Amino acid sequence: MTAALVTGVTGFTGGHLARHLVHRGITVRGLVRPRSLGRPEVATLREAGIDIASGDLTDAAAVAAACEGVDVVYHIAATYREAGQPDSAYRAINVQGVEHVIDGARAGGARRVVHCSTGGVHGHVANPPANEDAPFNPGDVYQDTKLEGEQLARAAGQAGGLEVVIARPIGIYGPGDLRFLKMFRGISRRRFPVLGAGEVFYHLTYIDDLCEGFRLCGEVPAAAGGTYILGGPRYTTLNTLVDLIAAELKVKPLPVHLPVWPFWLAGAACEAICVPLRVQPPLYRRRVDFYTKSRAFDITRARTELGFAPAVDLPEGIRRTIAWYRAQGLL
Ligand SMILES: NC(=O)c1ccc[n+]([C@@H]2O[C@H](COP(=O)([O-])OP(=O)(O)OC[C@H]3O[C@@H](n4cnc5c(N)ncnc54)[C@H](OP(=O)(O)O)[C@@H]3O)[C@@H](O)[C@H]2O)c1
Repeated sequence: MTAALVTGVTGFTGGHLARHLVHRGITVRGLVRPRSLGRPEVATLREAGIDIASGDLTDAAAVAAACEGVDVVYHIAATYREAGQPDSAYRAINVQGVEHVIDGARAGGARRVVHCSTGGVHGHVANPPANEDAPFNPGDVYQDTKLEGEQLARAAGQAGGLEVVIARPIGIYGPGDLRFLKMFRGISRRRFPVLGAGEVFYHLTYIDDLCEGFRLCGEVPAAAGGTYILGGPRYTTLNTLVDLIAAELKVKPLPVHLPVWPFWLAGAACEAICVPLRVQPPLYRRRVDFYTKSRAFDITRARTELGFAPAVDLPEGIRRTIAWYRAQGLL
């Protein structure tokens, strides 16, 4: 039986992936940082048959111990949700943490590391849709450090002795995600004005499709050394996405569009004040970028080389996400 280590199992994607692999008969160990060991989701992961290893990505020895005896390491953990962190925290986790995972996987005798990067390394996609060879254009410290981490992982694979596959997911949504809750809630309460024209592209990927994409990255022999964009079956404009969510919520979208620049300036000001104080800014530029940066991707390479076939289209994925938000009392 194959054994896998999944990092980031207390997070949205890592938690889903760990369960997805268990359902396919893979023995899964999950890396959890010590400060999170007492959280209820860790007990739930254990109940789902996932073995828990304690370790912070900044602790090379703990990461190496967690890697021992596994065949494939799925490196999903990263930092980005906590705004207000200094750049050094992004570097320690999203770059040096990758180095610790690669070194640990190699020392532990793993065959392959699937490194989770992000479509965000392409930043604003000037010529949509972008494929894996589109220019890099990271737009903030998160995307900068994800790109550095990806490049480090790729170089380690090229050095030999360990297969490395880079996966670049795009806009992950579904049950368990809270990142898109604000948008769903805003649309449901008719308090979600689009900033700007709303004609930028947005590309969402349903979590179950993504997990299968990761599994293929871990198992398809010819994927070794490859880089794959993992996205949903289609992208839409932001206006269309809002319309689709509103239709599933059975509300009318707001007809109002607001100018972007006052929000961008306010975001920059909030960051300038909050970041040195290590306080979460109420508004930050990455949130405003959501309305201005186009994200549309071509997943042909993953379809043809991995057999990736995302099956959950937007209305169905949106419906399932709304059902989960409602079941949690969030919407
Ligand atoms: N969400 C998206 O739309 C999206 C899009 C493209 C790419 N991605 C990438 O997909 C991956 C997963 O994203 P997500 O949205 O599922 O993230 P998430 O829910 O924020 O989960 C992040 C996970 O990383 C763990 N982690 C953070 N710092 C750590 C450290 N120092 N040591 C050990 N574990 C640490 C967290 O542990 P704690 O629970 O202890 O904090 C958590 O389990 C990331 O690599 C992200 O860059 C996400």
